[in-house]
Amino acid sequence: MTPNVFWFIPTHGDGRYLGTSEAGRATTHSYMRQVAQAADDLGYEGVLLPTGVSCEDAWIVASTMIPLTKRLKYLVAIRPGLMSPSLAARMAATFDRLSDGRLLINVVTGGDPVELAGDGLHVSHDERYEITDEFLTVWRKELAGETVTLDGKHLNIREGRVLIPGVQKPHPPLYFGGSSPAAQQVAARHVDLYLTWGEHPDQVAEKIASVRRLAEAEGRTMRFGIRLHVIVRETEEQAWQDADDLISRVDEATIARTQQVFARMDSHGQSRMKALHGGSRESLEISPNLWAGVGLVRGGAGTALVGDADTVAQRIREFEALGIDTFIMSGYPHLEEAYRFAELIFPRLQITPKTLNSGGKPGDAFGAFSGEIIANTIVPQDETRVARAAG
Ligand SMILES: Cc1cc2nc3c(=O)[nH]c(=O)nc-3n(C[C@H](O)[C@H](O)[C@H](O)COP(=O)(O)O)c2cc1C
Repeated sequence: MTPNVFWFIPTHGDGRYLGTSEAGRATTHSYMRQVAQAADDLGYEGVLLPTGVSCEDAWIVASTMIPLTKRLKYLVAIRPGLMSPSLAARMAATFDRLSDGRLLINVVTGGDPVELAGDGLHVSHDERYEITDEFLTVWRKELAGETVTLDGKHLNIREGRVLIPGVQKPHPPLYFGGSSPAAQQVAARHVDLYLTWGEHPDQVAEKIASVRRLAEAEGRTMRFGIRLHVIVRETEEQAWQDADDLISRVDEATIARTQQVFARMDSHGQSRMKALHGGSRESLEISPNLWAGVGLVRGGAGTALVGDADTVAQRIREFEALGIDTFIMSGYPHLEEAYRFAELIFPRLQITPKTLNSGGKPGDAFGAFSGEIIANTIVPQDETRVARAAG
């Protein structure tokens, strides 16, 4: 099986060293475009755009990228409590049409009451998932062409509908992140693909089993994906050296302040991430080649696969064996690491010109040829390299 591999648009900043502005990068349109175009050329399936007060708006960034990319899909994160489902359905239909079916939706209910209060949402954790449930009920039906009236506990919609339909039927695929029991229940009822952050493989297996059971009870099936950072290098030593470097500029005060912010959140997913490192630099390798260092100062996805290319590919295969078919990856800085990951890992996952989302058409990345022409005469044999790496 060839896994679906996504990259990430760093709409809340990027750099070489976490927790500092040293060698930091601004979220200019030009930079985000470079990352999107690199992902498109390299043959990533799509890119995730997060949502939240710290992010450039995902819809707006993604929509500006549509004409600048050819096949790349956009996994746009949305927060149900902040938007009418009818408006969200209309936006999805428009994006889907304008991008010719390149929209995917990541449903993220939100897990920071302080941030959500700033956006005008003042309800408990589980009530937020009640809203998500009602939101998705309306959103799905409207995009499927129904006229919807819902007199719900939270939402009151009268004859809502999408007049101009999207491309994908019945609607753009729904991805979903959320670890709590309430989240899993909503996921089981509505979504196509359940996402987890990169936890210990045993925890991931447990979550998959739990969500799968809930989905079965709803008479549904579900796909699974994982969100991970990655530090892949030619050698194991170099990878671990670069992991150390990534957090070498963070001081203890910044780590402590970060943990205070995490502590105010009611997100089960964030608590699970925090528990992996407990705010300490000691024992960050929580299972072989899975490193929790990113989570010391980054909210959300906080673990990275660290290792040489063969080992990282093997760890990906191990997650795949648990039932994961979609990998949403990122690395710092996101532009260079998009290339590095594709170069080192795609051949090892048998992601080749034929399986890339490009379809391997001449002129695309890995298409006509790759590498520099030798002696102005000889075309380098990319297929040989791919086969060697894969072997
Ligand atoms: C892969 C993935 C991506 C996520 N992206 C976002 C995001 O962009 N913005 C956000 O506010 N929360 C994001 N979340 C957090 C969850 O959506 C959820 O709000 C949070 O974990 C609280 O829910 P829980 O208590 O059920 O875990 C993401 C979660 C996962 C697993």
